[in-house]
Amino acid sequence: MPIKTFERFPNFYEVQHPIVQYKLSLLRDKETNRKLFKELTEELTMLLGYEATADIPMTTKKVSTPLETFDAPFLKNNQFVIAPILRAGIGMSEGLLKLLPMASVGFIGYYRDEKTREAMPYYFKLPPNCEKAHFFLCDPMLATGNTSCAAIKKLKEKGVYNIKFICMVAAPEGVQQMLDEHPDVPIFGASLDRQLNENAYILPGLGDAGDRLWAVK
Ligand code: URA
Repeated sequence: MPIKTFERFPNFYEVQHPIVQYKLSLLRDKETNRKLFKELTEELTMLLGYEATADIPMTTKKVSTPLETFDAPFLKNNQFVIAPILRAGIGMSEGLLKLLPMASVGFIGYYRDEKTREAMPYYFKLPPNCEKAHFFLCDPMLATGNTSCAAIKKLKEKGVYNIKFICMVAAPEGVQQMLDEHPDVPIFGASLDRQLNENAYILPGLGDAGDRLWAVK
């Protein structure tokens, strides 16, 4: 099943695999409980991460099987960093770590300044040598794009450029802002949804991803 691309959003890759789409529908369902929501988030991130890593450069190394030695495929650069945006992104990093167990993990937290409406960092902790790594920034919901754009700006200031963004669901507004500010950062998601509502929630969306992952009702 192909990855869908959009003429107006050349930065967005929608993974249309049937299993991804099925799991996303379960994730959206308001009846899905916290345990299943967390499991689905991890599984979906693993599948999205699989697609997001499809173009990473390869090399070969000699491997000896019990029968002979041959040039076996290996990753050219084995350095990976996963950085979830707090708090909902944490649910994704667990899934991505299963796919990339060699990755280091950083943590990025932003809050919204109610006066200026600007995204303000309150936590920004990265592992060493991020500049040389394949860097995966995760947030389940790409809504306005304010936080992700601010986080990517700060990453670039620190010399991190090889960045891919992984989300479950994106709003056109957020994808447009990413395209305007960071056209070099590809976004991998399970769905480009219709729009944001007046409270900046994605429609049809899946609600508050952080609450659904971490708040027990
Ligand atoms: N954050 C969420 O958790 N959900 C949305 O719909 C938008 C932002």
